[in-house]
Amino acid sequence: ADGRATPDRLATSPSGEPVTTKDVTLPSGRAVPPPGWLRGRDLLSSADVSSAELAALLDAAIALKAARAAGARYAPGRPLEGRAVALLFDRPSLRTRASFEVGTRWLGGHSVDLSGGGVGLGTRESVPDVGRVLDRLFDAVVVRTPSQAAVTELAHVAEIPVINALTDVEHPCQALADLLTIRERLGRLEGVVLAFVGDGNNVFHSLALAGALAGMEVRIAHPDGYAPSDGIVEKARAIAAGSGGRIVLGGDPREAVADADVVYTDAWTSMGQEAEAAARRTAFREYVVDEALLSAAPDHAIVMHCLPAHRGEEIVDAVIDGPRSAVFDQAENRLHAQDALLAAILGDDEAER
Ligand code: CP
Ligand code: NVA
Repeated sequence: ADGRATPDRLATSPSGEPVTTKDVTLPSGRAVPPPGWLRGRDLLSSADVSSAELAALLDAAIALKAARAAGARYAPGRPLEGRAVALLFDRPSLRTRASFEVGTRWLGGHSVDLSGGGVGLGTRESVPDVGRVLDRLFDAVVVRTPSQAAVTELAHVAEIPVINALTDVEHPCQALADLLTIRERLGRLEGVVLAFVGDGNNVFHSLALAGALAGMEVRIAHPDGYAPSDGIVEKARAIAAGSGGRIVLGGDPREAVADADVVYTDAWTSMGQEAEAAARRTAFREYVVDEALLSAAPDHAIVMHCLPAHRGEEIVDAVIDGPRSAVFDQAENRLHAQDALLAAILGDDEAER
């Protein structure tokens, strides 16, 4: 009754040793990619990786998660040994900041928390100048700031990899963790139907792009005036055309969830939209993920939310705390998915040092 199908997990290598992340064959039949296999790459959007790269990142995340579950105090080979990662957060965060900090340390590197508005990205100092300085001090930067354009500008100037930790437009690290969670729970991604109920926001945008890469059908039921960005939908549809996925907009929440494998929701009011909160509460009042809505979904459907949740608004206690909720797995999987990302773009193995 916990909704788990065939978990795509790997606790030990074929020889019975704890996973080393090298030369391991996953249940998918693919080998785990070695550290540094995406060296130097940025992740500004979910669409910055190909379908094959996304699948391999999830493979690596599964292997690293298994190594942690087997009790490894550090990731095998400490792929980030001697590396410094800047965490530049202009907005509040629990999961993203904490998981990058814990993950960097577990991978053998260290992070420096530059949050608190002290840096003043684009205010105290120009974005390019911040990028030039970070380049001299760090090996990668993880940035959360409202403007996607600022993150793009930072990545353009900085030689070091830039990871988008949430803008008003995208949240690609969340989408990686979400797809990892779906793969664990449902045993596959291709053909999975995800119904997003709520705002066409940053979390939806990144999910639509990542879901399209993975050959999923990603739907959104949203009130008038809260549709996702046309540009993102167009891009996701172009990707879906090559992967067998689909992006579907509009419709009533009950229709959207009727044959869905995943029911997903997020805040009605995102960070930076606080002045619109009252109007949004009115606009979204028919978009609550509650037991009545869930009763319209198939019995096997799981419930997801990126958190933080506004209990009693977009989701009710009985659902988020219920047996079909994968919400806290998602939160944990932020760590494993980002570990895979960091090891891919920044890691090396002991032999290379
Ligand atoms: N889901 C998520 O990004 O959470 P935080 O805002 O707490 O990082
Ligand atoms: N859409 C939400 C996600 C928080 C992780 C926001 O941008 O505030």
